[in-house]
Amino acid sequence: MILSIANVLSSAELQTLHQKLDPEDFVDGKTSAGWHARLVKHNTQLRSDAPFLSELRNVVGQALKNNSLFQMAALPKTISPILFSRYDRGMEYGTHVDNAFMGDNPRMRSDLSFTLFLSDPATYEGGELVIETTQGEQSFKLEAGAMILYPSSTLHRVEPVTEGARLAAIAWVQSLVKEPSEREILFDLDTIRQMTFARDGKNYEFDLLTKSYANLLRKWGEI
Ligand code: NI
Repeated sequence: MILSIANVLSSAELQTLHQKLDPEDFVDGKTSAGWHARLVKHNTQLRSDAPFLSELRNVVGQALKNNSLFQMAALPKTISPILFSRYDRGMEYGTHVDNAFMGDNPRMRSDLSFTLFLSDPATYEGGELVIETTQGEQSFKLEAGAMILYPSSTLHRVEPVTEGARLAAIAWVQSLVKEPSEREILFDLDTIRQMTFARDGKNYEFDLLTKSYANLLRKWGEI
């Protein structure tokens, strides 16, 4: 499932990020890619000792916590440290798959990847995130503050930026539910039980849906 989530960041949060993401603090992004992805990765990333890095990570991290659609769809167990990437004119990230395992402390499995777009799409040309699916390629270039959440198992790329600069926040999620098809069933069930609650309140249908949701989560989830 590829999910587009609008308004993950407010305009005030975007403003904070833009004020503090100084182009001078961005370095070659090859360091955080696997050996094969490194061959096609031509972008820059906020350096790990940049001022404000932890503050900026907190802004995004808090927004993810508060976003119920993200929480419902990803069922996050672990979220990797958030990276801030910048593609200036001529930069791109060719076709690659993300590493299955990441980090040392803690070591995590990447089930889902996300790109949180930070730049107004009118301010740059190119820079689409293109994901290969069984239905063909899907291309995304979203409003600032919106996110694409997609399976880490896919081949994907970022098209060359031909004008302006494309800023994004990216990270990986290890989900409580490893299997994508099971995660999708849980997402649908959670959606429908919330629709039922919004329409009729806490009635017996809601209780049974909630029971099924909780019991499937127990059956399929891993903590
Ligand atoms: Ni990637």
